[in-house]
Amino acid sequence: MAKDFVVTPWEVSGDIDYEKLIRDFGTQPLSQKHTELIEKLAGRKNHMLDRKIFFSHRDLDWFLAEYQKHKQVALYTGRGPSGPVHLGHLMPWFFTKYLQDAFKCPLYFQMTDDEKFLFKDSLSQKDTLNWSMENSLDVMAVGFDPARTKIFIDTKSIAKLYPLALEVSKRVTYSTAKAVFGYKDSSNIGEIFFTSVQSAPALLPSAEARQKKGAKGDEIVPVLIPCAIDQDPHFRVTRDVAQKLGFPKPAEIHSTFFPSLAGSGKMSASDPLSAIYTTDSEEVIRKKVGRAFTGGRPTVAEQRKLGGNPEICSVCQYLKFFFEPDDRKLEERLRAYKNGEILDGENKAYLADKIVDFLAEHQKRREQARKVLDKVID
Ligand code: TYM
Repeated sequence: MAKDFVVTPWEVSGDIDYEKLIRDFGTQPLSQKHTELIEKLAGRKNHMLDRKIFFSHRDLDWFLAEYQKHKQVALYTGRGPSGPVHLGHLMPWFFTKYLQDAFKCPLYFQMTDDEKFLFKDSLSQKDTLNWSMENSLDVMAVGFDPARTKIFIDTKSIAKLYPLALEVSKRVTYSTAKAVFGYKDSSNIGEIFFTSVQSAPALLPSAEARQKKGAKGDEIVPVLIPCAIDQDPHFRVTRDVAQKLGFPKPAEIHSTFFPSLAGSGKMSASDPLSAIYTTDSEEVIRKKVGRAFTGGRPTVAEQRKLGGNPEICSVCQYLKFFFEPDDRKLEERLRAYKNGEILDGENKAYLADKIVDFLAEHQKRREQARKVLDKVID
């Protein structure tokens, strides 16, 4: 029996039962058929689909059918810039890049500096704007096509987003916002309005297409939102209102959470020991991985005899989620770990080497991304 868990856009904790979450949120499980179709359209496999790290969706069949009718489609995802980016944030972005390569379509990327200012007492507007610029480097280091990517920093791009945010806000009552997000009498009024700002980019591709067509425009640009499932409550609201506004409901594809290094819960920016940041040095990476929670036994002799438990081992989970994309190698390593042939020290060193190499490359690309920021920030 899984322990209690919480998943909201602002809190993820406990042992998450993803099947229950699908039922509670009312989303659909991602099927083998979806995986096969996306991989066929993309022309290559994706380990995050094959390993069911992406596990849930809304209206994906509709989106893929529209794409196959040669419709123009768009992707939308984002980041709440409250600090440095960690490996968990990168996961949906790498998947989004896979989809952008597959669909050759625009990506609308929202930096919600307003959200982080409103929801975090410790951050000023200057801080969240600075983090928006820093985090944009990580976004572009993922390799999105600069010609097809727009980053909206809310406080800078608000003129584009505000008319749509207003339309949304007029159709969401306080009682709905309270039911979906749990606001209290003490919540500030900016928090209550915020979900309309996160809705706006999901409607923008169709709104822009209509603007180009003039008064008679009724264009539809299907939008797919790849994100971890914590963001779904926002898009439940968006989808309800989209219909009332004559826009298509955005589709969603949801990932599970990249685990915490500390053992339970997700990798979280508010718990520095649980997370590896993209800007961490080799020394810091090795130190953090060295302290990671594993599925090992108290003594070497016991681990050799009884084996480790990869299911609860954050090191094994990191290999599964991202750092060992080769299925055969992963299977062999997990088997050997389970049988006590591989001990924690060796497993940690193997993962640390992979993360160090990956981040050395990412940090290089992050520096090169400085050249394209002007072009992609709206
Ligand atoms: P934020 O900054 O909390 O998270 C950015 C993206 O990373 C996902 N995420 C994770 N994925 C896997 N494992 C984890 N441990 C993990 N932690 C976070 C989030 O689901 C998200 O996709 N309000 C949003 C910003 C936003 C947005 C969007 C996100 C604006 N528009 C559209 C997704 C789609 C936020 O604060 O995300």
